[in-house]
Amino acid sequence: MSRIAVVPGSFDPVTLGHLDVIGRAARIFDQIHVLVVHNPAKTALLPVAQRVALIERAILDADFEGDIVVTSWSVGLLVDYCTDVGASVIVKGIRSQVDVAYETPMAIVNRNLAGVETIFMLPDPAHAHVSSSLVRQVAGLGGDVAPYVPKAVADFLQHG
Ligand code: PNS
Repeated sequence: MSRIAVVPGSFDPVTLGHLDVIGRAARIFDQIHVLVVHNPAKTALLPVAQRVALIERAILDADFEGDIVVTSWSVGLLVDYCTDVGASVIVKGIRSQVDVAYETPMAIVNRNLAGVETIFMLPDPAHAHVSSSLVRQVAGLGGDVAPYVPKAVADFLQHG
């Protein structure tokens, strides 16, 4: 049986921390689906299709091993997508106890809804301070985000 995992998030934009988790998950599972989910609680910087394109570019540039699908999802529950593609696992990157507190209720609800387990993965501590919201703020005020995001994202935010 092939093991499929979903790595969901807003990815607005994808950061080096996200990319680190994606690469680690791709080495563990037979296939991973990097799923861009519109989060209505957040004010978006990039359209969902642009986020997908930047993740695809960053994954190509990183030359990761493994079978990686990048797509988006806007209708219904995350676990519905997992069930549709035969994924039994969700992978979430955890930078700190703050992330654990945020992610734990969602993990339990997703397990209760559909039996989908969530695995918390630790990115390289070098990326522990990096978040998409920080990148959005720095980029919006004209600062240099190159240390925090894949080159494709830095280029796009700088030149469009
Ligand atoms: O990167 P984010 O914004 O922290 O990602 C959060 C996201 C999009 C993964 C989360 O909001 C989510 O899973 N949304 C899908 C809707 C859903 O299934 N909600 C109920 C169970 S938590």
